[in-house]
Amino acid sequence: MSKIPFGPTYDEMAHPSHIDPEIRKKALEGKKNELDPINLFNINWKDEFNRVHKIVLPKEMTGVDCNIVVLLGKYFPSGSHKVGPAYSTLIEGCVDQTIVPGKHTILGPSTGNFGIGVSYICNLMKYDSIVIMPDNMSKERYERIQRYGAKLDLTPGTESDVILTLERTFELKKDPKNRSLAQFELLPNYRFHRHVTGHACVEAVEGIGNGRIALFASAPGSAGTLAAGDHIKKVFPEAKVAALEPYECSTLMNGGRGQHRIEGIGDKMCTLIHNVLNTDFIALIKDEESVQGLKVIHDGLNILIENGISKEKALEMQEMFGVSSICNIIGAIKMAKHLKLGPDDNVVTVATDGFDRYRTVIDNLDKRYLETEDFVLRRWFRDVFIKANTEDISDYRPKSQKDKLFSQKEKDWLKFGYSKEYLDSMKEFSFWDKEYELVFHYDELIKKLR
Ligand SMILES: Cc1ncc(COP(=O)(O)O)c(C=O)c1O
Repeated sequence: MSKIPFGPTYDEMAHPSHIDPEIRKKALEGKKNELDPINLFNINWKDEFNRVHKIVLPKEMTGVDCNIVVLLGKYFPSGSHKVGPAYSTLIEGCVDQTIVPGKHTILGPSTGNFGIGVSYICNLMKYDSIVIMPDNMSKERYERIQRYGAKLDLTPGTESDVILTLERTFELKKDPKNRSLAQFELLPNYRFHRHVTGHACVEAVEGIGNGRIALFASAPGSAGTLAAGDHIKKVFPEAKVAALEPYECSTLMNGGRGQHRIEGIGDKMCTLIHNVLNTDFIALIKDEESVQGLKVIHDGLNILIENGISKEKALEMQEMFGVSSICNIIGAIKMAKHLKLGPDDNVVTVATDGFDRYRTVIDNLDKRYLETEDFVLRRWFRDVFIKANTEDISDYRPKSQKDKLFSQKEKDWLKFGYSKEYLDSMKEFSFWDKEYELVFHYDELIKKLR
């Protein structure tokens, strides 16, 4: 077997303290030059002291008694945790010798962050890459992808038109030199989040409340992040998992298929890698509230302070979130109210990326509203966060509800050549546990071949 590019194992991504100390030191120094391949060893949730990058939201903002802990994806190389699934899928392909540098071109179907992750990883691991994405996403995304050297292949539409990127990828895949890092259907995405994000979530609540997790909330795009819930439930069997969808595109809840403004989520499908057995609730979040919430956090420093949030915390939060992060925060608050969680309880959610890729989204909001003066932001702060309600939450634990999700999955994936038998096998927990166990198989091979 030939050598593969030098990168981390799943274990090293979950526990960077397990990386050889010399390499870890070089990787931390390498942060100064993001295109240095040593940055592959910075694909993890931790800071240099091995603490998870996170914030416990001020209760003056959430209005609930429980602790809402948000993991921060913006500290990953390339600015979002989506680089993790991109790397995991590529390195597994290298190990399996199905993806060979110089021979294969990598395809990254995406609405943005995964595409950024793919172009970044391909730059570091020396692959040519093509990112297939809708032509109406935030400008910041295209700029980054091109900066990292990928080609763009644009399909019409926005977030909700991701299906067109899949169809285009299906076509491009017919060329034998192309290999797709298909985030919606390939299980390295599941493995990365169950192992790496799952462990980070469990560590993030150490010393907070009762030290356990009562709820994990995440808005699925590929539903990779949701897989952290599978690990959380193994550690804290009482934990619930909530999938959040845009109110305007409630595909999982009721087949809704509208346009919306929350980039990265709500992709009009039940993805192949979504383990619906572990999805306990689905809650809908209004897209405009997610954008308004981001505006308040980014531009409403004085509003946050007058609501009792310390200046230090308010400043700290300014650049921390993107639109989907606010969606996740609103979902966490709604679910905390629904489940009547108390001061000992912890809710964990994720901020996939930070503000850096949403300036144009906020500029657009400013143009759409006649006024975004303090009195408006004050109202938004109250309505979006403090008064978040418990409407549009459905319990997906009953079998009849799961069946709805299974049939959505069939509708979405039979047409791409997956067999009914394969989809049926996903109805058993053993399918997911077996897929997860491959983490240890790949780790052995990565260590041997790198
Ligand atoms: C900004 C943003 N938020 C949320 C998500 C959803 O994450 P996942 O694909 O793991 O479900 C994505 C995915 O690309 C994203 O880009």
